[in-house]
Parts: sequence; structure tokens; C-alpha cells
Amino acid sequence: MNIIEAKKRLEKLKIEIDYHRYNYHVLDRETISAAALDSLKNELFALENEYPELITSDSPTQRVAGAPLDKFEKAKHSRPMISLFDAFSESDMRDWKERNENYLERNLTEEYYCELKLDGLAISLNYKFGKLILAATRGDGKVGENVTMNVKTIQSIPLVLRKPEEKELLEVGFLKSEIKEVFSLLEGGVIEIRGEAIMTKKVFADLNKKYLAESRPALANTRNGVAGSIRQLDSKITAERKLDFYAYDLLLGDFERGEIVDTKEKSDALVRLLGLKVLADNAVCKDLDNVFSFFKKVGERREKLPFEIDGVVVKINNLKMWPVLGIVGKAPRYMMAYKFPAEQATTTINDIVWQVGRTGALTPTAILEPVNVGGATISRSTLHNFDEIERLDLRLGDTIIIERSGDVIPKVISVLKNLRSGKEKKIIPPSVCPMCGGKVEQIKDEVAYRCLNKSCFAVSLRQITHFVSKGAANFDGLGPKLIEQFLASGLIKDAADIYNIKKADLLSLERFAEKKADNVIEVINSRRELDVARFIYGLGIRHVGEETAMTLAEMIIHEIMEGAQLSKKVGAANAKTQLSGFLKIEHLISVLQHKTEEDLAKMEDIGPIVAESIYTFWRDEKNLEVLKKFEKNGLILTISTPQSKNTKTSALTGKIFVLTGSLSSLTRDEAKDKIRTLGAKTKESVTKDTDYVVAGESSGSKYDKAKELGITILDEDEFLKMIK
Ligand code: IVH
Repeated sequence: MNIIEAKKRLEKLKIEIDYHRYNYHVLDRETISAAALDSLKNELFALENEYPELITSDSPTQRVAGAPLDKFEKAKHSRPMISLFDAFSESDMRDWKERNENYLERNLTEEYYCELKLDGLAISLNYKFGKLILAATRGDGKVGENVTMNVKTIQSIPLVLRKPEEKELLEVGFLKSEIKEVFSLLEGGVIEIRGEAIMTKKVFADLNKKYLAESRPALANTRNGVAGSIRQLDSKITAERKLDFYAYDLLLGDFERGEIVDTKEKSDALVRLLGLKVLADNAVCKDLDNVFSFFKKVGERREKLPFEIDGVVVKINNLKMWPVLGIVGKAPRYMMAYKFPAEQATTTINDIVWQVGRTGALTPTAILEPVNVGGATISRSTLHNFDEIERLDLRLGDTIIIERSGDVIPKVISVLKNLRSGKEKKIIPPSVCPMCGGKVEQIKDEVAYRCLNKSCFAVSLRQITHFVSKGAANFDGLGPKLIEQFLASGLIKDAADIYNIKKADLLSLERFAEKKADNVIEVINSRRELDVARFIYGLGIRHVGEETAMTLAEMIIHEIMEGAQLSKKVGAANAKTQLSGFLKIEHLISVLQHKTEEDLAKMEDIGPIVAESIYTFWRDEKNLEVLKKFEKNGLILTISTPQSKNTKTSALTGKIFVLTGSLSSLTRDEAKDKIRTLGAKTKESVTKDTDYVVAGESSGSKYDKAKELGITILDEDEFLKMIK
């Protein structure tokens, strides 16, 4: 992007972000998720970083917080309600620790106190002489809105603080002198308790059910539910919303933190004794490793918790450290919001691919600029059908919001049309099938476009499954089910596409978690080198079985080697690569394209029908395209046929073996390999040219045929002795 394009994009982003900010923070209306909005802000931030000359004072990146609403009385906070820095990974957390150590110029050995990060609305409760006199929202951090009337409807908030018994305070570790101070503040001073007002998942669901029945607008989410309830003028509605409150901070008059209460753990104990709720999940963790396992466990329980949380707030337990570490910019150094990965993000659509399903229906998949959503990089998203594209009014180049929660496949939520530059392209369904080239039509009264070739999907599936099978590329673990899923989701159209599968692609599919994706990528990478004979067999050329593929491979290698000798004489640059045990696909194509049908038919075991099939295959444009794609996607052809170094000359050189039934000590493939390395050949059918038939368990008609023709039949032991 050049500076002119960047400026245009930047202007659009600023307007878009401001629009959602206004709706969200001022009108309590959620027009976009917080995560998607963050994603837009990140893009803006990155652009501004690249072009600092484009930063203006009105940019959303330059703002700290939202302004209080006019309809409420303003309330000035005794001490600012600051915000938190965010961490998204273990390494972010380690960096935080390191920054603090650099700042303190010593190692940080203090314990941490981990709290669930509730997703609601921050509220400050001011108790004078033990009585609730003011409840305020955060506002811009310095001045909030006086929402006392509404907050009083929250049943878990005491209007008068409970006076703890001295005994109770002693039990949680307070000294007599400290207890005296607490009592005097309760009787004659100000105690401020800050925390999060929340709406439980159950209340949210019940309310929405009720609103639906009454045809009232539904609440967008629990956070919205709380904000909308507290920041509105009719306290009756607030009461109906059944909000809850959990405390996370305690300010004792003018005392510095750490003066009366020395740890956050003890502070929570005191707040409980004062009659407020504090989450029972909060816990001390002695070091970062313990913090990480706390975070992991909470992540696993997240779905089942009765309220929404968006991470863990990690605080230094020793409150005496808080004033020492202090505040930097907008947030304190002594705590960190360790957040769960966002489940929505914004990105752009680079392309649409159409895949053909079992029924011939064409499904579009959006190819995205890779983006991290819910902790995984995502590069594609299914769009289900053409109607979906029209419903979203989706165009190539559009900025979209994508969502992925848990292992559910990512989906395009909406298009940010205001961000269009005018260069976006309309999407039209293909007129010919991308798999078979057949005709495509929209069937009357149906949403789907269909490939009219009834066997389109089945043929592709069969071809690819054949390519990955044992005798060919041998992709262990890539069974027909997975191939079908890849094909049906448009991830692959042919076998060559397998070599181009990326982890991000797999994570975009159903039932694909990290580990499974890693396994598949590992299998693919372990199969990047493939023997040329296996490759030819895997191509599924009609009438070309393993034996014919091997005959062709031998011929190709032979010709290329001869060519290489010739080239050597004239000093051709590629002579070396041709002899090095690797074979370029273009050489393979070139050798086969130079063969006439007659040439091929002269080869051993190749009759006119097989010759015609081979001849046609290597001249078909579509086949050639796929062949070249194999190499482009990172497949390397290797040479290890009887002509190569593995082959010995032995008493069996030139002999023809046919295998029938199963052997107990080695597989069919191992037996065939063994035969080949001894310079002998294997064939599928018994003829008068056959030298030996190896008969294993439950051998069938080949055995009878061998008997009939008087061919030597070997049992397993005899065979093993022979090949020893
Ligand atoms: S401590 C310096 N503790 O998260 C700010 N905040 O992203 C003091 N929140 O505005 C906040 N649970 O509303 C703290 N256990 C917790 C919290 C928590 C939720 C909210 C809080 C704050 C926001 C910052």
C-alpha cells in the first residue's frame, strides 16, 4: 500500500471506528463486537506506525476513554479509575515481569494474585460512615456518572457495610492496630469498593426469551445488558434485570495501598467480611508458571461458568509493591489483564474458490488474508451458497468480520461496507465446474448451483484417494474420510493441492483442533519425496497399474540418463540434477510427450489400449496443469527403480514373480520391493512367461492358473529362502 492508499484507508478506518465507539460507549448499543473493533483499531495502529506522518489528534488511537453521558449527574472519582494493559500469551506475561524487573532493577520474586476478569461494567461504591452514598461508573476515568439509584437495585450490594467481628479479622491475619483503623473508617471515614456489575448468563437468556415473547428488542450480550441497565433513567428496569456485583478493589480512606492491608488476598478477605461478594475462584499463584496453569484451568471452565469472563487479571499480591511500581501511561505496572484470544477479527477477502459436493452442488469458500482469530490463524471460511454471498453483499477485496469460537468453523459475520475503496469486485458463480469443467446451472427453485456431471465429485474423490493410497504416495493417516472432507470443503481440488495444505487452512475446517492439524501437516511434510514409479501409478492413468508404472519409470530414467550423458558432453547445466536421484516433472513430461502411441505399444507389457491411454494422458491440458502444480507445491520426485543404486544383479535377475494370497512375515509391498531389488519383476497375472508364483494364505485363482500352466509354485518358506 502506498501513502495515498494508506491515507484513504486510514480516513475510512477512523470514521468506522468512531461510529462503533459512539454507539457502544455513548448509546450502549453494540454495532460491532469489542473484538472486531479491536481488530480495526489494530489495523489503524499498524498503518499509523508505518506512516507516522498520518497520525492526527482525533485518531481513535490517541484517545484514552469514553466521556460520561449527559443524562446523569457527574461524579468525580477520589482516585482515577485507570485501565489495564493486555497480555495475550505467556511470552507477553514474561515480558511484563521483565519490564518490572528492569524498572525495579532487581529480580521480582513476589507472588501473584489471580482473579477472573469479569466482563461487565466497572462500578465504584463509596461508603461514608459505613453507608452507601455514591455509586459511579468509570466514565473517562476521572469523572464518571452517578448511578446510585440504579446500583441500589443490585441485591448483592449492601447499602450499609457489615461490621466484622474483631475475631473474624484476627482470623484472616489482621493485627489489632490495623483492626482499629478499619473500625474507625467504618464509623467515621470513607471506604471505597470497586468491582464489576454483571449479568449472569442465565438472567441474560431468560430476559431475552421474555423480550422475544413481548416483541421487545433483545439484549446483544451480557455486558451490553449490564451497561444498558445501569446507565438508564428508570431504576425499575434496572431492578428487572437482576444484576449482580463482585468486588475486586478496596480503597481505605487516604491510606496508601499496603498500609493497613498488606496483600491483595487479605484485602479480598476484608471485603467479604464487609458484606460484599468476591469471587471464590481468585487465588494466590507463587510464580508465573502457576499463573499459566491457573489461566489454562480457567479457560477450560470458561464455558461452564455462570457469568462471562474475558481473561484473568494477574496482580502482584504484595500491596506494598503497588505504590512502588506505580502507573505508566493509562495503566498500572502491578497488574495485567491476561486475556483469552479474541473470537472475532477483521480481515479482507482475497478470493473465492468453488468446490463441488457429493450432490454436485457448488459451495463458495472465501480465501482470506490470514488473521488470528480465537488464538488460531485462519485463512478460509465457507460461505455455504451463493445466496449467502448475496445476503452479505460480499465482494472480492471487502473488509469483513470473521468469527471463530472454540473449534467451530470460522464464519463471515458481516461486511464493513464503509471501508470499501471502490476497487472491490462483484462475485459471480462459475459457469463451468472448477473440478471437471462440466456445465454448471442453477436448478429451478433451488439456492444451489450444480455441476451437471453426475460423477464429478466421486471421480475426483476416487482419483485423490488412489493417489494417497499405499502403493502410490502412501499418505499414512490421510484416509478417505479426510480426503473427502478436504475435497468437500474446497481445500483441495486434486492430489497436487495436498502438498499445499497449510495449518491455517485445516483450522478453518470442522473438527480440526491444533493437534490434529499438526499431525496432518507432519504427514504431508514427511511425504514430499516420492519415487517416480509410485508417482506415475498414483496419477491413476487408465490401465496403468503398479507394474506398468514401473516399466514407464524405468524407461524414463533410462532416457534421461542417456540424455544426461549427451548433455554432459555438450556441457548442459541441468545434467547434474538429472543424475542426482531427483527428477524434474518437466523432464518426465518431456520424455513421455516425445513418445508416439507406437513407441509405447512396443514396450514390455503395454498393448495398444494401454498405449493410447498413456499417450492421451500426457497431452491433456488439465493433466499437465496438475502435474506442474505438484512440483510448485513442493513435491520432489526421486529415482529408485531397478536401474538405481538399490538394485543388485542376482540369480533371479529378469525372473517374473506373481504373488497370490497373504504372507505372514512380510506385507505384499515388502515382498514386491524385495523381488525388485534382486533385479526380478512382479506381475499381476499369471501367464506362460511367469517364472514363480508365491502362494500365501488363502490364495485364489492365480494358484489354479499356475498349476494349470505348470509354473513353479513357492510357499512362504521357500520364497523366503530364495530371496535371502
Ligand atoms: S482491576 C486499574 N480486577 O476490567 C483497573 N478489573 O480491562 C483496575 N475487570 O475496567 C481494574 N474483572 O472493569 C480488575 N478482577 C478484576 C476485574 C477487572 C474485571 C474489568 C474492570 C476494568 C477492566 C479493564
